[in-house]
Amino acid sequence: MVALRDDLRLALDRLAFTEKLGIVPDEWQEDFLRSSADRVLLNCSRQSGKSTMSAVIALHRALYHPDSLVLCLAPALRQSQELFGKIAGFYRDLGRPVAPQGERKLSLELENGSRIVTLPGSEKTIRGFSGANLLLVDEASRVDDELYFAIRPMLAVSGGSLIMLSSPYGRRGVFYEEWISGREWERFEVPASRCPRISQTFLKEEEETLPPFIYRQEYECSFEDTEDQVFTTEMIDRAVTDEIQPLFGTVG
Ligand SMILES: Nc1ncnc2c1ncn2[C@@H]1O[C@H](COP(=O)(O)OP(=O)(O)OP(=O)(O)O)[C@@H](O)[C@H]1O
Ligand SMILES: [Mg+2]
Repeated sequence: MVALRDDLRLALDRLAFTEKLGIVPDEWQEDFLRSSADRVLLNCSRQSGKSTMSAVIALHRALYHPDSLVLCLAPALRQSQELFGKIAGFYRDLGRPVAPQGERKLSLELENGSRIVTLPGSEKTIRGFSGANLLLVDEASRVDDELYFAIRPMLAVSGGSLIMLSSPYGRRGVFYEEWISGREWERFEVPASRCPRISQTFLKEEEETLPPFIYRQEYECSFEDTEDQVFTTEMIDRAVTDEIQPLFGTVG
């Protein structure tokens, strides 16, 4: 039998690799797995499988590209740890096709020289790393701008890939800014209606229970005005357009 690590088909085809893990990808997941873009934004519904797919891509990178450095980042360590947990779980499911050199709670080091490392969302910790080949930012809409600006240089020399995955969280922050105006990205927008595991009945129940803007944010990929914002972006936009008379006198 050909060892998994030597199976050329799996090395070249992330879709075949995913199926080896027993996962039948959804339509959008298939497109994501086939993509060769090195800047990707996933604006996806809750529970649509964005962390799972990113974990598959991370493990594939580490197994089949020796000496890769894969970094998992999120606003809080608990979240990046969850992503790492998925990667480590898949690695074990496959029977550790490349032997481990160090298998720890927050990192996995392989004998082919690849490393997968989990990082908390603090700028100080990540500054020690350079030359990442793949950087995954989970819950990216909640990541601080400073953190984002600190991680980008890590890709400079390595020419590494950056995948930011999230459901939206208000019309602010780097994930939102990049989603609406970034030029370099391949974008995937996946509302809950495109996820075969989320039923219409469940969605209807959620829609009836949640405040409408939360429902749109969690399940419909919508960047909503945040709860703590007194004025909506639309109100602010209207207030600054020339056509509309200001409410309280004129300026100047
Ligand atoms: N193609 C698939 N086939 C079967 N199960 C899947 C598939 N994709 C994802 N799942 C399952 O769906 C669940 C949600 O996946 P995951 O945690 O990756 O979603 P998420 O979009 O990151 O959710 P959240 O927004 O809550 O972080 C998991 O139990 C995962 O195993
Ligand atoms: Mg997730």
